[in-house]
Amino acid sequence: MELPAADGLPTRIFVEEAPHAGLLPEGRWVLLGDAAVRDTWRSAGLPEPPGSRWVPVSEATKRLEVLVPWLEGWAEAGLDRAATVVAVGGGVLTDMAGLAAALYMRGIPWHAWPTTLLSQVDAGLGGKTAVDLAAGKNLAGAFHHPARFVACRSFLATLPPRQLDSGRWELVKMALMAGDAAWARALLAPGMPGADSLARALRTKAEIVGRDPREAGERRLLNLGHTLGHALEAASAFRLLHGEAVGLGCLAACFLAEAEGLPPFPGDLLAAMAARLAPLRPDLPAWEACLPLLRRDKKAVGADGPGESRIHCILPRPHALADQRPLPPQVWRRPHERMARLLQSSEMPT
Ligand SMILES: NC(=O)c1ccc[n+]([C@@H]2O[C@H](COP(=O)([O-])OP(=O)(O)OC[C@H]3O[C@@H](n4cnc5c(N)ncnc54)[C@H](O)[C@@H]3O)[C@@H](O)[C@H]2O)c1
Ligand SMILES: [Zn+2]
Repeated sequence: MELPAADGLPTRIFVEEAPHAGLLPEGRWVLLGDAAVRDTWRSAGLPEPPGSRWVPVSEATKRLEVLVPWLEGWAEAGLDRAATVVAVGGGVLTDMAGLAAALYMRGIPWHAWPTTLLSQVDAGLGGKTAVDLAAGKNLAGAFHHPARFVACRSFLATLPPRQLDSGRWELVKMALMAGDAAWARALLAPGMPGADSLARALRTKAEIVGRDPREAGERRLLNLGHTLGHALEAASAFRLLHGEAVGLGCLAACFLAEAEGLPPFPGDLLAAMAARLAPLRPDLPAWEACLPLLRRDKKAVGADGPGESRIHCILPRPHALADQRPLPPQVWRRPHERMARLLQSSEMPT
């Protein structure tokens, strides 16, 4: 199923049950794939043109030097500007492949075939591509939209349950951002989220990115849960997966919104979120470890006067689009405390 085109977004978006060759590029192309999905690709009988490669992927491989042999290989194979890179894998692979496509000959087209729930909901769409630097995640990158985004749900069958649950929080984030408590609640049910949820989240993201491609305003809403989330992820030394940290960040953002005077989400939704997040409590970093990271947030607004600089905070509220406010990092202390307490007292899901 192809989703309707979003104004301003040069990406055709498909949500499919299984991969099929009809969605591959028409002209010359080369595959760059995450080795974890090679067998799935092959057993679906899909082609691998000359010059294709399957690479082992982890956050530790998300380095600029890893891209160089790919670029050299494409040049040796005589790939020209008309060729397309087809990236098949999770967010690490699509971020790296998108950046390699942005660099090669100053930019050639690429298609994203995301294979984790997180990359199907979020990472594969929107044109942000990057690798990590020693100083932090995603610090070297480019905006380069995929020409096509193909999310095939059958890839998720081999995904470890922890990865599936991690990606689920990016969907919950979209529901909270839209102010839709019932949607958020439904997403917390066990099992695979439905294709309708995926399509709705992608449509919303596509529209927002189309209106604000460079994150000058509205696109910041997609960072709901990420302000504290990024700090938690880094402070846990990445023991928390990205989506897990976003889930914790979303719960804390609900508390911050309430503390800032916005109407609260229903208590049963917050309790259900806390119950799902409760197994993460051994890895929840202390507030003192988060504060310095929040202060270094790369999206800081800058100090206006002698006081502390502010960071963009996204505040969800029921029945309305989330609000955004520049606030000092210290405001997250109490929401963090309240979240930690709620996690402590939560029953683990059975
Ligand atoms: N560009 C963006 O807008 C954006 C947004 C969010 C996250 N990200 C980035 O995405 C990355 C995280 O992505 P992720 O959560 O997909 O992690 P990931 O790419 O590391 O994949 C997780 C693990 O699952 C494996 N895997 C992938 N697909 C599989 C499948 N179908 N079956 C079995 N195993 C599979 C991978 O090899 C890896 O070991 C981070 O680097 C983050 O910075 C980017
Ligand atoms: Zn995210």
